Amino acid sequence: MSFISRRAALLAAPALLLSARAFAQGSPGQPAPTAPAAAPAPAAPPTGPHSVPALPYALDANEAAIDARTMELHHRFHHTALVNTLNTALRDQAELSRLPLDELLMNLSRVPENIRTPIRNGGGGHANHAMFWEILGGRGGEPAGPLMAAINRDLGGNFGEFRNRFNAASMGIFGSGWAFVTVAPSGQLAITTRPNQDNPLMQGERVLFGNDLWEHAYYLRYQNRRAEYVNNIWNVLNWEKIAERYTMATEGRLRV
Ligand SMILES: [Fe+2]
Repeated sequence: MSFISRRAALLAAPALLLSARAFAQGSPGQPAPTAPAAAPAPAAPPTGPHSVPALPYALDANEAAIDARTMELHHRFHHTALVNTLNTALRDQAELSRLPLDELLMNLSRVPENIRTPIRNGGGGHANHAMFWEILGGRGGEPAGPLMAAINRDLGGNFGEFRNRFNAASMGIFGSGWAFVTVAPSGQLAITTRPNQDNPLMQGERVLFGNDLWEHAYYLRYQNRRAEYVNNIWNVLNWEKIAERYTMATEGRLRV
């Protein structure tokens, strides 16, 4: 620094200090600026009427397809956010709050328009994830009994062909969504997909099981390799539980 510029800096320093003090204390005749008011804390979402079910197994129970950290983030944060969205939309809706989730989703057209989207997204997402946790935690393989007979009858003639069709449907989803097998009260099965967090209940169809094709479901382990995730999910399906859901559907007892 040259002599001149150092001198200029020394001369300027007190002025800068003064102006900083003036700013902090307020200039004569002017009020001191006040610190910005803290933003009010967002209201906590209601704790009901809907809630995230506990996982029926340990976080690492699905390592053959899904790592424990993904399970934890997915269950604790993603599913919770969807339930919070649903409960917040239902906050002042006593009548709708009393409806079971399946009836709410089957009657979206009767939900007031200003809360229909959060109920569709949050409610659909809640139904999708509650089903998803339930049908995982198994050891893959193949089903048996009436469910296997229905798969062979309705979904391609043999289990391998059914797998191919379900995988193709999963890979065909553009962006985020779900692949499902739906089940009619007659026991008839069909493969279908939905975008976002939509659920076949919105068209009056029950879900036998489904797979989450949102990136949050697989990205930590698989990144862009969706096909690998789609193939591996078969390793952890719980066919006993899915067979139970099949029986419940044919007896009119399956809800979400
Ligand atoms: Fe998900």
